Amino acid sequence: MKNDKIIITDMGSLNEHTHTTKPLLCLGIESSCDETSAALVDSDRNILSHIIYSQIPEHQQYGGVVPELAARAHILAIDEVIKLTLERAGKTINDVDIVAATAGPGLIGGVLIGWMAATGIANTTNKPLIAVNHLEGHALVPRLKATSACDSTTDIDVKFPYLLMLASGGHCQILLVRGVGKYELIGQTLDDSAGEAFDKIAKMLGLGYPGGPIVDKRANSGNPKRFKFPRPLCDKPGCDFSFSGIKTAARMLLDKTPQTDINDEFINDFCASFQSAVVDCIINRLTNALKDNRVKSVNPKTLVVAGGVAKNSAIRDAMEKLAIKFSMQFAAPPMNLCTDNGAMIAWAGIENYKVGKVVKTPVAPRPRWPLTEL
Ligand code: KG4
Ligand code: ZN
Repeated sequence: MKNDKIIITDMGSLNEHTHTTKPLLCLGIESSCDETSAALVDSDRNILSHIIYSQIPEHQQYGGVVPELAARAHILAIDEVIKLTLERAGKTINDVDIVAATAGPGLIGGVLIGWMAATGIANTTNKPLIAVNHLEGHALVPRLKATSACDSTTDIDVKFPYLLMLASGGHCQILLVRGVGKYELIGQTLDDSAGEAFDKIAKMLGLGYPGGPIVDKRANSGNPKRFKFPRPLCDKPGCDFSFSGIKTAARMLLDKTPQTDINDEFINDFCASFQSAVVDCIINRLTNALKDNRVKSVNPKTLVVAGGVAKNSAIRDAMEKLAIKFSMQFAAPPMNLCTDNGAMIAWAGIENYKVGKVVKTPVAPRPRWPLTEL
C-alpha cells in the first residue's frame, strides 16, 4: 500500500480547545488484531469509559488469530462496542470533540472496519478525525497512565524524551521517543517478536493461545536454571534482537524429551527457563541501547516498557532494576493498557490533535506502517 495515501496535515487553527479550560474528549477505536475496543478519554488523562471485546475464544481452537474470522467478528461487534462506550460514560456523540481510530499497522480487514466506523462518525458529525498508528498508541499510552513495577499505586509522569521497549505480538523494538510522531529506531528484532516467541513456546507445549500470559504464569512456579536456552546476539554489540534460536532450541529439547517426562514440573521449568532467556536478551539489548551515543546525547530520564509483553512481571522487574542502575525512572502502563485497547488509541488521538495532525483528505489504512514513517 502506498504511503502517499495517508495525508495528515497541519490543522493548527482547529486547536481552539487548547485555549479553554474544558478538557478535550476523544473517542478512540481499535480493531487491528483480535480486540474490538473503544474508549472515551479526555485531555486531563481521565478514561471515562473503556470497552474491550476480546475475540480470543473465537481464535483459540486455531491456536492463533485467523484474519478472516477476526474481520467478521469486528463487523459484528463494532457498533455495540461504540454505543456501550458512550452509554457507560453517560455521553452522546455530541459531547465528543475528536474521533480517532487505528489506521494501521495490523490485519487489514479489521483495521478497515474500525477506520470506516470512525470515518463515518467523524464525517457525519463534522468532528476532527485522527489516523492513529497502532504502535504509536502503545508508545504514548504510558503518558496517559503509568506506574513503576513495584509501586502500582502512584502515577508516574512520563515526559519526552524516553527510551521505550515496545514488545507486542507483532513488534519488538527499542525506540527513542523524542515527541509525538518523533521516533528513532535504536534496535529491532531480526526474526520473531517477543510476543510471537511466547506464543510459539506455548503452542509447542500445547498450552493454548495467547501464550504469553500462560507461559508467564507457568514460569512463576518453575526453575529458570533447569534448562540452558541460548541468548542470541547477546555476545554481540548492537541493540537488535533474535528470538528464533531460542525457539529452535526449545523445539529440539522437547523433541528429545520422552513424553512421560513432560509433566507439570517439566513444563513450569521449561517456561521459566525460556522466559529467563527472553528477559536476559531484553536487558542485554537495552543496556547497549542506554550506552548508545544516539541515546546518551538525548539523555532520556525514563525507561519505559509497552505493548502486550509489557504485562510480563519478570520483564517489568528486570527493566526496573536496569533503570535504577542507570539512575533513571521506570514506567509501565497498567496491565489493561498493555495489550491492545481503545484507550491508547484515544490518548494518541488527543496527543496528535494537540500537535495539529488531523486528517484532511481520505486516508487508506496500511497493513504495514513503521513508526519511523509518521
Ligand atoms: O500488544 P498486543 O496486545 O498485540 C499486538 O499488537 O501484537 O500483544 C499481544 C502479545 C501476545 O503475543 C501475547 O502472548 C503477549 O502480548 N503477552 C504476554 C503477556 N501477556 C500478553 N507476553 C508475555 N507475558 C505476558 N504476561
Ligand atoms: Zn498492539
